[in-house]
Amino acid sequence: MLPAQKYRKPDSGAVLAALHQITEQFGYLPQDEIRKTAREMGIPLAQLMSAATFYASFTFKPAGKHKIHICDGTACHVKGSTSLMDGLKQKLGIGENETTQDGNFTLKGVRCLGSCGLAPALSIDGETHGRLTLEALDKILAEYSEAKR
Ligand code: FES
Repeated sequence: MLPAQKYRKPDSGAVLAALHQITEQFGYLPQDEIRKTAREMGIPLAQLMSAATFYASFTFKPAGKHKIHICDGTACHVKGSTSLMDGLKQKLGIGENETTQDGNFTLKGVRCLGSCGLAPALSIDGETHGRLTLEALDKILAEYSEAKR
């Protein structure tokens, strides 16, 4: 192996792969794991942190038990997704990309769930709920809150 290859720093693909691996294992990016990974890869912590903060798909906080993805794609937006997002924020007492204090729900906005015919739509843990109203949200949230027990 040539010296240049031996001391070559990992490229951005390797950095992203490492971040995805940590996320898969923990569900988020714990600070201790990021530090440990940077040491093991022989790269500056800043290189990992730079990638981790650039991509919105990475998070530094543990996600809630149930992940709510509310769609704000064109079809859902036209059919009132903004008021649904506002309603969810109010009902859960959190903002977008936050987790409820009891750790039950994490709320995220997405561009399209691929269920435009059901607009406005959201998914919880991958299960799509469509043609939503603010009233329907109460029932859906109650179902997932019950499932917690
Ligand atoms: S725009 Fe909402 S599911 Fe496609």
